[in-house]
Amino acid sequence: MEKINAVITGVGGFVPSYILDNEEMSRIVDTSDEWIMERIGVKTRHILKPEEGVGTSYMMTKAVKQLLDKTQVDPDTIEALVVATTTPDYHFPSTASLVIGNLDLKNCFGFDMEAACAGFLYAMEVGAGMITSGRHKRIIVCGGDCMSSMTNYEDRTTCPIFGDGAACVMMEATTEEYGLIDSYLRTDGKGYEHLHMAAGGSACMPSHETVDKRMHFVYQEGRTVFKHAVTKMSDAVETIAKRNNLTKEDIAWIVPHQANVRIETAVARRIGVDESHVMINIEHMANTSGGTLPLCLWEYEPKLKKGDNLIFTAFGAGFSWGASYMKWGYDGDKFCK
Ligand code: UT7
Repeated sequence: MEKINAVITGVGGFVPSYILDNEEMSRIVDTSDEWIMERIGVKTRHILKPEEGVGTSYMMTKAVKQLLDKTQVDPDTIEALVVATTTPDYHFPSTASLVIGNLDLKNCFGFDMEAACAGFLYAMEVGAGMITSGRHKRIIVCGGDCMSSMTNYEDRTTCPIFGDGAACVMMEATTEEYGLIDSYLRTDGKGYEHLHMAAGGSACMPSHETVDKRMHFVYQEGRTVFKHAVTKMSDAVETIAKRNNLTKEDIAWIVPHQANVRIETAVARRIGVDESHVMINIEHMANTSGGTLPLCLWEYEPKLKKGDNLIFTAFGAGFSWGASYMKWGYDGDKFCK
């Protein structure tokens, strides 16, 4: 039997229209455009305003709809929808089930998985496994978060970092040598203390006290997380490149999680790839957690060429991190014609 690979055949995305810039941010907390640009690299972020009364599934539905429209794929041929998010609309049902319902995908099952900022990296691995097993031919993998729903706008050390957005990819079976080739993924729960949301789950149920103590927001020890992110992402990229005999000249694009522009450039420097080969959109997208990797693909799609070697890398709460090597399967500009 011929070997089956899992290849991406299209990208869709969505960001909310409201833009929160650094000038407005510096009226909310004691900060400045200069500090945020120098230390993080964010100028603006898209925000899903709470008064709109919608959550992550709203953004993902828009992203999947765009993907279906542009690829002209029959929605009834989508067999599964895998969603990576840390900000589901509800504890249950899953965000995936809401998206499937919104778009009336009749022959599809779906579920959410949570791995914070590494969510989409892990979801691609899960999705690719579903395809290469031979059990599914066409699925959609989504990543996205409504980070504003758990951002403490009284904490200047975290609130300038995050934004909202979602994107998705079509993943299909092929016998050609394209698609997700290799992954190096790791998780270590010892990172809990440095990056988490303390309340709202089964270990610490929501109560008046947890609300009063503002325990339903992102807690992050920035400097510690920063150091781990640079080291773990760089090591993972190096490992995956070596394991697949890729020199820096072979790498068309590094696709890094957009947590801090200093992390992205440090990872590129460490393996000697020029910044012009690194997807960076943090300046106008900020950190959308599970959304960063697919939103990069969404924006850079027109520049991608069939056969390009891409290395994805991410780091997030858990800690969870890793890198994946993908051979891109189509000329991205075909959707612009
Ligand atoms: O996506 C999941 C993974 N997350 C990450 O990878 C994020 C990793 N961490 C980071 O990106 C950075 O650590 C931050 C952006 C969170 C913080 O940047 P930093 O350069 O590590 O700043 P710091 O926490 O060391 O703080 C330096 C100074 C402090 O003042 P003092 O103590 O030196 O007087 C802070 O109080 O900057 C101050 N500061 C600010 N000043 C103006 C912290 N936040 C702000 C702010 N505006 N927003």
